Amino acid sequence: MPLHEIEELDAHRLSVCAKIPFIPHKVTLMPSLETTQQTIKNVSQKPQGECALSIEETSGSLEQLNQLKQVIAKHDYAYYVLDNPTISDAQYDQLYQALLAIEKAHPEWVTDDSPSQRVGGQPVEQFHSQVHAVPMFSLSNAFSQEDLVDFERRVLEKLPAEATQTLIEYAAEPKMDGLAISIRYEQGKLVQAVTRGDGQVGEDVTHNIRTIRTIPLQLFSTGWPDVLEVRGEVFMSKSTFESLNKQAVANHEKPFANPRNAAAGTLRQLDPNIAAQRHLSLYLYGWGEISSDWSLPACYHKAMEQFKAWGLPINPDASVVKGVQGMAEYYDALHDKRASLPYEIDGIVYKVNQIAYHSVLGFTAKSPRWAIARKFPAEEVWTQLLAIDIQVGRTGALTPVARLEPVLVGGVMVSNATLHNLDEIRRKDVRIGDTVVVRRAGDVIPEVVSVVLPQRPDSVALFEMPKHCPECNSEVIKEHDKAVYRCTGGLFCPAQKKRALQHFVSRKALDIQGLGNKLIDQLIDVGLVKHPDDLFKLTVESLSQLERMAEKSARNVCQAIQTSKQTTLARFIYALGIPEVGEVTAKHLAIHFKTLDAIRVATIEALIEVPDVGEIVAENIVTFFQQPHNQEVVEALLSAGITWPMPEQITVSSSSPFMGKVVVLTGSLQQGSRTEAKKKLEALGAKITGSVSAKTDFVIAGEKAGSKRTKAEALGVTVLSEEEWIAMMGGTDG
Ligand code: IVH
Repeated sequence: MPLHEIEELDAHRLSVCAKIPFIPHKVTLMPSLETTQQTIKNVSQKPQGECALSIEETSGSLEQLNQLKQVIAKHDYAYYVLDNPTISDAQYDQLYQALLAIEKAHPEWVTDDSPSQRVGGQPVEQFHSQVHAVPMFSLSNAFSQEDLVDFERRVLEKLPAEATQTLIEYAAEPKMDGLAISIRYEQGKLVQAVTRGDGQVGEDVTHNIRTIRTIPLQLFSTGWPDVLEVRGEVFMSKSTFESLNKQAVANHEKPFANPRNAAAGTLRQLDPNIAAQRHLSLYLYGWGEISSDWSLPACYHKAMEQFKAWGLPINPDASVVKGVQGMAEYYDALHDKRASLPYEIDGIVYKVNQIAYHSVLGFTAKSPRWAIARKFPAEEVWTQLLAIDIQVGRTGALTPVARLEPVLVGGVMVSNATLHNLDEIRRKDVRIGDTVVVRRAGDVIPEVVSVVLPQRPDSVALFEMPKHCPECNSEVIKEHDKAVYRCTGGLFCPAQKKRALQHFVSRKALDIQGLGNKLIDQLIDVGLVKHPDDLFKLTVESLSQLERMAEKSARNVCQAIQTSKQTTLARFIYALGIPEVGEVTAKHLAIHFKTLDAIRVATIEALIEVPDVGEIVAENIVTFFQQPHNQEVVEALLSAGITWPMPEQITVSSSSPFMGKVVVLTGSLQQGSRTEAKKKLEALGAKITGSVSAKTDFVIAGEKAGSKRTKAEALGVTVLSEEEWIAMMGGTDG
């Protein structure tokens, strides 16, 4: 029913009259969308005028509601996608209020595709994993025109001769710097939006994606397939990012490093109201599952045009080019335009335009052979080197860090950059006071690339590493044959103490929760903790005296410290922080030697028998246990009550079904802890890993198993319930 008839319908019931203008003629835009055009024509048949309609009290009809939904969606499209509003804000608001009024009178008519349902949804409690019906691939990269020539050669080699008679057409698009998303429409309605995740399994972020006004909740027009998954990049425009960060600074919150992080942080919110305020954007660049009731057109760019006609946002800077020459011209043009684009890009994506060729060319393990990303070179800027500070790491290694005059590099404010080591400083001849070139590529730590020598002031001294540790004044030694300078203060150096303690309590070591870096700094600075064993002497009273430490938190920290005393030999060895003894080496040492005493007295020859242990690591282990202060710390830790289960006799039966198998444990197990389950499986010859891949043989899924189970199912990996696993073990003589 046309909207103007609301007047006739409800006039007799109205007690309060609000003045609502008719939808103006301008609304009859969208020439390509015939059915919608028809409805809108009806709406605007009457000349502009007013109707007696009470926003509060009209009940309206379902048909009117549906028309309003369509009209509002069209205005959203004109405003947000075309950037060309067709009515004033006030007129839009009136349409919206009319819609709300009908929905208020008929809550049973409110559907997910209503514009009123974009915002104000309930926060979700947690993110759910979702397997992608069609995996989401990545792209291989090209860094030069030669790389593109190679790409085209590889394409031509695989295509039939007749395809290579004329120049290959490529769809060329900006490579948006955001996050990939897959959006699923069923019967034209947006039903789900999932992040890329690892390409196989992503996270359901529908609640946040629905808030993006450029994404239709209901596809326009007709002719779409029953199931249509479209894929694209969610991003935050430069201007939105800037105002968001201004606001963050004004509210004393931490600003985001760049628009990409801001977009990622926004998608990760449980509450959709936050995403609604942050105005994310999206451009499509592909598709996933499509039901067989619709066939893709012959070319990629035609598919994109069709998506556009269904109201989906397509990048206006996309184009079709021919051959490597065409690719190069597009690159130059976009490179010049980069700074003036309203969004961040990090390169260009080229895709073979003929969709039929996509299946001929196929995929490598990670990426399609019919597409490539030509990356822009990392952004480089000049700035002043103000000072070179020395950072002392956990093992005493001194790292020179450049303190810079703050400068914006690729959208991120940079004031520090790594200089790696003295050799690097000498090689680049970097001196304090120099003008330096700073580079940032992707999420990598910024680095000083080179010095702008013509800008060098007259008297700049050569930089020397300090002879004494800036933190504890101990002597600094240069390691034999290495570029590393090390503080000899060991655990007496406060910087090393802090780093060592951070490592000692970390998740893979003793896993003491609630003991963050700030608290560790405080404990060392006030002298409550000097060595790791002092942690076990902390009391609720002593902790409560610290600044900003409430009694409840103090109690929790003490509890976590006590719980951590029951650990494993491997965790304990890892926690000691012996140089180059990581989690895996620590495990191998524990399995091989079985007791701490055996490791403490092991010779280099005995140590190199252990998988993963070479001569350098073996030497580090021997040196560590020879140091009197390390011996003292280890003894003190043992006296503090740190224990681990005695090794069981490991007898592996060759008939074990787990012999040599790669197993992942997930979810909560009823019969004992995961650590125990792990031990039992290892005793049966299994290798336990943390993540599921095609190489996994079994996934043992306890209660509430989540994404690992889903991924295993997607990859066809055998999933065992706890009962099935126990039954399998019972059937062995191991
Ligand atoms: S196509 C199967 N096109 O770049 C190919 N990706 O490095 C799927 N990206 O994961 C990707 N803009 O998140 C494609 N115009 C564009 C893109 C684009 C940005 C992202 C996307 C992808 C990543 C690969």
